[in-house]
Amino acid sequence: MLKPLALFVKHDGASARAAVTCRYKCGNACAHEVPNKSAGEYFGDIVAAMSRRRMLQGSAAVVLATGTAGLLAACGDGDDVRTAAETSPGTGTDFTPVAPNKADAVTVPEGYEQSVVIRWGDPVLPDAPQFDFANQTAAAQAKQFGYNNDFSALLPIEGQENGYLLVASHEYTTGPFMFAGYDEQNPTREQVEIEWAAHGLTVVEVKGEAGSGKLTPVLGKYNRRITATSEFQLTGPAAGSDLVKTSADAFGLKVAGTLNNCSGGVTPWGTILSGEENFNQYFAGEFADPAAKERGKRYGIGGDNNEPRGWERFDRRFDLSAEPNEPNRFGWVVEVDPWDPASTPVKHTAMGRFKHEAATIYVTPDGTVVSYSGDDERFDYMYKFVSAKKIQQGNTAAARKHNMTILDEGTLYVAKLTGDHPDRIDGSGKVPSDNGFTGSGQWIPLLETGADGKGRSLVEGMSAEEVAVFTRLAGDKVGATKMDRPEDFEPNPTTGKVYVALTNNSKRGTDGKPGVDEANPRNQNKNGQVLEIVDDHTGTAFTWSLLLVCGDPQAADTYFAGFDKSKVSPISCPDNLAFDPHGNLWISTDGNALKSNDGLFAVTLEGERRGETKQFLTVPVGAETCGPIVTDRRVLVSVQHPGEVDDASVEKPASHWPDGGSAQPRPAVVTVWKQDGGSIGV
Ligand code: FEO
Ligand code: CA
Ligand code: CA
Ligand code: CA
Repeated sequence: MLKPLALFVKHDGASARAAVTCRYKCGNACAHEVPNKSAGEYFGDIVAAMSRRRMLQGSAAVVLATGTAGLLAACGDGDDVRTAAETSPGTGTDFTPVAPNKADAVTVPEGYEQSVVIRWGDPVLPDAPQFDFANQTAAAQAKQFGYNNDFSALLPIEGQENGYLLVASHEYTTGPFMFAGYDEQNPTREQVEIEWAAHGLTVVEVKGEAGSGKLTPVLGKYNRRITATSEFQLTGPAAGSDLVKTSADAFGLKVAGTLNNCSGGVTPWGTILSGEENFNQYFAGEFADPAAKERGKRYGIGGDNNEPRGWERFDRRFDLSAEPNEPNRFGWVVEVDPWDPASTPVKHTAMGRFKHEAATIYVTPDGTVVSYSGDDERFDYMYKFVSAKKIQQGNTAAARKHNMTILDEGTLYVAKLTGDHPDRIDGSGKVPSDNGFTGSGQWIPLLETGADGKGRSLVEGMSAEEVAVFTRLAGDKVGATKMDRPEDFEPNPTTGKVYVALTNNSKRGTDGKPGVDEANPRNQNKNGQVLEIVDDHTGTAFTWSLLLVCGDPQAADTYFAGFDKSKVSPISCPDNLAFDPHGNLWISTDGNALKSNDGLFAVTLEGERRGETKQFLTVPVGAETCGPIVTDRRVLVSVQHPGEVDDASVEKPASHWPDGGSAQPRPAVVTVWKQDGGSIGV
């Protein structure tokens, strides 16, 4: 029997996200206790941080003017590489904004075209069968495009005109919408195995055509599916540790699969990073060891947190009482080499374990690699990893081998923020000064990993292995700043400034929960904000300001970097970030609390139009906009969970996108281009 979806724990109203999305996407995180019960920040170092800030402001321009030249070459169209000098501020955002709507369609601006690139179930491997909703098998799904695609990357294939690799992550599955007659209490083995095969990542070749942005999948030699059962290698200080050993892996080095792959990043050496996010939800039962139970709580694992999917019935590794270390093997940044389908993907433990939304890279002029990552949970932290090794240029086998070890050696930091106007932050969102919400910050080192792969803990009372595996606890100990769900981080390739989407936090300032601060300035924050950081990328000091305090621009508690609020699109729940070739920030949303479908927005960052925010597209009913890619002539988005609405079912779909008629909804990647073949937004 199909369990009526309305009986699921109702979302607490932070956003318009459906209860069924909460249940299957993040294990009902909002319905459970906030995992972070640590004492919180200490304020001892404010004076030192302020003086460092002044120093940084003087030197930042020099550092930032030269960074990340290599990064652009790795992503986007070959013809997309432009320098900031070629465009003026705001170039690339000249389109008529799409109005908020509830259409069961992808709605794009006038003068733009769209098409679906690939949908759930479309063949990826050469012998894959065509998708058949009523007759799915795990064997077929393992060769087809997975479910609920989130991140996407488009990498030009050298020597192929209009040939690209499309890499997508498949974050989570939703049984009630995947299978007719799904019984949540009693999923069948075949259904569960289909779900395992529908998780992970896809690498698929796509072919463009002259004069349009259309992309068509090709059954090419790079095509690959990675699932919840594919082999992964652990590297870094937790590899081989007792904390990650299981009965299936006595050495603690090989993990079966990747789970809840949310957003990600492209490295300058052409690999893909993917964040394992809400991995906690797949585990059932309870830890026998009280210490493990306590640590599990900080990650939302075990006991009251359980939202079991029944997977433990078909693989004991999902049963905490049988395999208490299995969850320690998820929550990492994974790196996949999409150019070698036979390669074993890696989980980098030097980068810490938490609910990684993504990992995105900035390369400093001296070749140091900095990776930024948010922990997407209410009141959790922001992190960066600074490599000890320098990047090697060139695409030789030796350079690639070297570069793929860069994220195994270096220092992991967590962020602490201090507002400039603590007395003027009252929880209403009132702007505290002419310059808006501003402050300074410091990166507190947690873990240093050396050339031998061994870690050195920088946190009192924790071993290096413990800092790597229980990074949240390390952040608690050093007084990191509790943020409003840090999602995507994105360094601006043109200016080097770093942006963070903070989606929302309905619990901010409520009973017994942390109150507001200047970076998280609203109580019961429903609409989120976007943070702009001027970082000394390899150092420990930074300054910050809020670029956007999102919501209805007519509401007093919103802020668009000082731009005229009567001239912006409403925006709510910022989630994923991307840059176009002109240096504009593009933001996709998750859970619009303003009674419209989610969308994609372009924001001007520099010059007089700084803060101008325009909606470029909206996605269908019940869907979330993910994985934006904005190149010169193409915009790609992931349409995740179309039709995921609480009173919907397979028998009564809330969406028929993209196939129309009476079809079931299917998550998919969409490409958008200008009808006249011109540059996006120009
Ligand atoms: Fe998977 Fe933080 O969204
Ligand atoms: Ca999100
Ligand atoms: Ca997301
Ligand atoms: Ca991004």
